[in-house]
Amino acid sequence: MPLVTTTEMFKKAYDGGYAIGAFNVNNMEIIQGIVEAATEENAPLILQVSAGARKYANTVYLKKMVEAAVETSGLPIALHLDHGDSFALCKDCVDSGFTSVMIDASAHPFAENISITKQVVEYAHDHGVVVEAELGKLAGVEDDVKVDAKDASYTDPDQVQEFVEKTGVDSLAIAIGTSHGAFKFKGQPKLRFDILEEVGRRLPGFPIVLHGASSVPQEYVKIINQYGGNMPGAQGVPEEMLRKAAGMAVCKINIDSDLRLAVTATIREHFALNPSHFDPRQYLGPARDAVRKVVRHKIVDVLGCNGKA
Ligand code: G3H
Ligand code: 13P
Ligand code: ZN
Repeated sequence: MPLVTTTEMFKKAYDGGYAIGAFNVNNMEIIQGIVEAATEENAPLILQVSAGARKYANTVYLKKMVEAAVETSGLPIALHLDHGDSFALCKDCVDSGFTSVMIDASAHPFAENISITKQVVEYAHDHGVVVEAELGKLAGVEDDVKVDAKDASYTDPDQVQEFVEKTGVDSLAIAIGTSHGAFKFKGQPKLRFDILEEVGRRLPGFPIVLHGASSVPQEYVKIINQYGGNMPGAQGVPEEMLRKAAGMAVCKINIDSDLRLAVTATIREHFALNPSHFDPRQYLGPARDAVRKVVRHKIVDVLGCNGKA
């Protein structure tokens, strides 16, 4: 089976009340860990590549490794651009064989967001590629995605129908209080499920995307802190909230930070316990296993997409 788009997976997920995991990939071990878990659980997958990942690993390497994942697993896998910030970047990904792209023009005013998104949709659809866009702004800081908390804003449900109609976009990321990274809430986690519900009412049958959806497992934060890290107050989205979102209109749940935490905690602990190891396979192997464990847990206990490939 070649790489697929998200059309079929989202339709089934919407109707079935579950969500597909979209996991960020940056190297071979991360890809392998994710794909091993999805294979064990017979789950559809979205592997997503950010602009930062393209710079780090070279998009050709990532694409070839994702093709290897398709060949070895036989699973329906979509290759998705995460947070594309320009038509040129989205076009480059469409031209190089991605099956899905995100144009994130959420930093622009509404009318401009519409016109940039529409331009990407026209090009992508001409080439059989699907498009995700964003309305509202998530807070958080990662390599190429930086929004201060003061500049973040919830999605306005009054805008979603006009946005989808005018752009022709295939899925929509909305802001309901999640944020990127490992520090999502100061104090009690709170998500605006009322916004998600209203968006779902305004766009019946339409797939919604939740970014910033890592749950920041405290066992990994503890290991990182125990072995010289410093992440006090790291906090993610409670898993019961993600399960609730997956049962509503959310069909795609984005997870990156949890994989980073699993890899980093595993490697930190490995070196603390085995200070003289110097063969990268000795620590990258366990890191890959940790990714597999996290993803399997997400698929089965949070997303509910096991057995849906
Ligand atoms: O939402 C952003 C993703 O987690 C990618 O982060 O830009 O650091 O690769 P990155
Ligand atoms: P996290 O930082 O919560 O993993 O979010 C990842 C994401 O939204 C990628 O687009
Ligand atoms: Zn994101």
